[in-house]
This record gives sequence, C-alpha cells and structure tokens, in this order.
Amino acid sequence: MMKNSDKVNICMVGTGYVGLVSGTCLAEIGHRVVCVDSDEKKINLLKKGIMPIYEEGLKALVHKNVKKKKLFFAKSIKEGLHHKGHRAEAVFIAVGTPPRPDGSADLSAIEKVAEEVSINMSDYTVIIEKSTVPVETCHRIEKTMTRFNKKHIPFDVTSNPEFLREGSAVSDFLNPDRVVAGVPSKQAEFLFKKIYKPMMKHSQVIITDVKSAELIKHASNSFLATKISFINAVANVCEKTGANIDDVAKGMGSDKRIGASFLNAGIGFGGFCFPKDLEAFYWLSSQKGYDFKLLKNVQDINEDQKMWIVKKIEDELWNLKGKTVALLGLAFKPNTDDMRFAPSIDIVKALKKLGAKIKAYDPISMSNAKEVIKGIEYTKNPYQCVKNADCVCLITEWDEFKKLDFKKVLTLVKHPILIDGRNLYNAAKMRKMGFTYKSLGRP
Ligand SMILES: NC(=O)c1ccc[n+]([C@@H]2O[C@H](COP(=O)([O-])OP(=O)(O)OC[C@H]3O[C@@H](n4cnc5c(N)ncnc54)[C@H](O)[C@@H]3O)[C@@H](O)[C@H]2O)c1
Repeated sequence: MMKNSDKVNICMVGTGYVGLVSGTCLAEIGHRVVCVDSDEKKINLLKKGIMPIYEEGLKALVHKNVKKKKLFFAKSIKEGLHHKGHRAEAVFIAVGTPPRPDGSADLSAIEKVAEEVSINMSDYTVIIEKSTVPVETCHRIEKTMTRFNKKHIPFDVTSNPEFLREGSAVSDFLNPDRVVAGVPSKQAEFLFKKIYKPMMKHSQVIITDVKSAELIKHASNSFLATKISFINAVANVCEKTGANIDDVAKGMGSDKRIGASFLNAGIGFGGFCFPKDLEAFYWLSSQKGYDFKLLKNVQDINEDQKMWIVKKIEDELWNLKGKTVALLGLAFKPNTDDMRFAPSIDIVKALKKLGAKIKAYDPISMSNAKEVIKGIEYTKNPYQCVKNADCVCLITEWDEFKKLDFKKVLTLVKHPILIDGRNLYNAAKMRKMGFTYKSLGRP
C-alpha cells in the first residue's frame, strides 16, 4: 500500500497503446492519473468502460482503477492538469510520432502538447517525454515551453523512453528490464524516482542525461530490428545451402553474448515501432553528418523478406491470376490488434498485383485490418478462410493457429499447400500429413 506522501498526481497526454497502458499501470501502482486524448471518441469510449485498443489484461485493470478513483479520463490538457482540484505535478507525453514521407519523425503533436502544457501549468511541473523521439527533442520541448511560459513558472523536461511491447504491454510496463530516465535536475530526478519507486524494487533504474536517454530508445529498437534482419538473412543462406535455421539459431542463441531472443526467422518485422524508429534514427544520423549505412541494410533485408512468402507462393502455384490464397493472421505479431506497418499489408498488395484472390482471418485485428486492407475476403474463422484455397499461408503466429485441426484443413483446401511465414509448424509432421510444406531456412 502506497503512503499518501508517495502518491503523485499525473497527467498522461496521449491515450493510445503506450499512454493508456502506462497511465493505467501508474494508477495501479498507487498514483492518481488523468489520461488525456485529443481524440474525443476515444475518451468517450473509455468513460463508458470500453477499450479503444486490445491489450491483454488492460480492460480489467482500467475498470479496477477507475472504480478506485485512481484513474480518470479527460478531453483537454487544461482539464488534465487541474482535475477536480488536483494539480498534476508530472505530465507524461505519450502521443504519436508517425513517420513523415522523408523518414523523419513527425513531432507536431509533441510540439502542440508542449505549448498547451506551458500555457496551462500553474506551478513547478515535470514533463516526462515518453513517446519515441529523436535525440534533442526534449531540448525543443523546453524551448517551446519557455516561449509560451509567460508567467515564468519553473519546469523540467525529462526523457523516459518506453520499452513495452504490444501483446504483453501491461506486464512489460509493470515488470520492465529497466526504466530509463534522462533528467536535467535533482528536483526532476526526485519526482521521477517517487513515481517509479514501487518498480525500483525489482527493476533497474538507469539515470542519464536527457540526450542519452532519448538515444537509448532509438538505438535499442534499431539493434533489435538488426537482430531480426540478421537472422532472416542467415535463414536465406540456410535455404540456399541446406543448413537448418532452427539449429543455427539455437547454436547462436546459446551464446550469452548473443542471447536467444529475436532469433526467430520470419517474414520480417512491422508494427508502429521498428520500421519508423529505424527510419527516424537513420534520418537523424544523416542530418548530423553520419551515414549509418547498417540501418539501411537492415531495412532493405526486411523489405525483401516480406516478399519471401510471395515468391514461395509463386514457386508453388506458378501463375497467381484467379487463384485463391488464404492468409492466416494479419496483425504484425500475435496478441495485438495493431495493423500499423504490418507486413501483411505489403504482402496483400503484391499478391493482388499478381492477380490472386485473397481470403484472410485474424483472431483480433480484423476490424483494424479492414481499414487498411481493402478488396479481400474476410472470414469468420480459420476454416472458412482455408476453404477452397489453392494455398494457405501462415502470416501471424497466433496461438489459435498453433492448435488448428489440420485434418479438417486438409478436407477443406483445394490443394494442400502450406507456406509457413513464421516457422511455426513441425516440417516433418506437416509433410507426413500430406501438405506440401514450405518454411524459412529449413530443409
Ligand atoms: N506502440 C508501441 O508498442 C510503442 C512502444 C514504445 C514506444 N512507443 C512510442 O510511443 C508513442 C505513442 O505510440 P502509441 O502506439 O501509443 O500511439 P497511438 O497512436 O496508439 O496513441 C497516440 C495517442 O495520442 C493522441 N494524441 C495525438 N495528439 C495529441 C494531442 N495533441 N493531445 C492529446 N492527445 C494526442 C492520439 O489521439 C492517440 O490516441 C510513439 O512515439 C511510439 O513510437 C510505442
């Protein structure tokens, strides 16, 4: 139970995958949190107890903390900063930082928040920047706030990059490997430690200068993306030489210096983080005069990798015109409804260009998918999806697909061709059942 003196009044600006999860978890560990979003529809839904996103365990935690009067929702920063007589001492920024066409991060939402916080704050406030941003963004926030801070109210801008993963966001937030804080003053550091105190018992807190904290996030995501592209490139070599990527990855991952995670070969990374953060990091490095060529290679490998599955389908079916391809999964990874930059988007585009008819099923992301992928048939379950298919492709490794009744699948498909884009299934077992089975880098 948290002491009253340890409770912090928090305003969380941006109530998306990061803001809603972070705000809810901060309420769960004892603080009073007001989540603000400029999207009124989102706030209206949340006020009715309806989740605008899918994330495991989130709904129950939101309901619990709303009931305990620790979590609130508001439509404006002004209301969030002075909610029912409670002044926010800390303002988290968790708004979107989408890519611009040139690859740089669009920071206009961050600028707007900085302006509004500055106009509406009434006493010393710590701004905690949580969105993924290029190095020096906090400095820009500070400059903007100073410009609008006519009453000269003291404030600090800190960087607190977020490392949660969609699909396990609640548990990641509550049990992080590390919490990174880039702080410019002792006063800001004190408040920061007060907020994260309950987590400091089991997680490492890394206190740095602001710029280093900002860079840690871009560098971490770029490194993880590099690991994925690396293993995918190795899988391609395995495929050409007859080696087995499963054994190679196991052999590599057993080395503690390398580690076993992120060594699963597949059809490439997607989502709202890796592609845009990699691009933004490359853009920033170029702007600063350093050509970070490695990041370009990582991106190129990933783009090629998405097309691996298209090539495999063509290898099996020859001409795709009029043939039916069934896609199992559309989200960029399991346990999320997020379709932003999912590899399935490019895969569908390429298959449609070749004249294929596409049927698709995803356990959770289908309503978001319908917004970004048009002109395909969405089905109610995996069995409807594979019915009369010339070829079945596994795109996302949802648990539901691990447990499929493949005897039933065999009775439904037109041809028993299974292309496994995530190396989910046992090759020998699938072939024994009668499938023409293709996976990545496995003989
Ligand atoms: N999604 C992830 O897994 C993840 C993980 C770590 C970090 N991040 C980073 O966190 C940031 C947020 O990502 P997300 O996935 O939560 O995005 P999101 O799109 O789900 O949420 C952003 C929210 O900000 C709101 N918003 C935009 N402008 C606003 C304004 N001026 N005032 C109030 N609200 C505003 C939007 O309406 C939206 O609800 C990004 O920088 C992202 O790169 C994301």
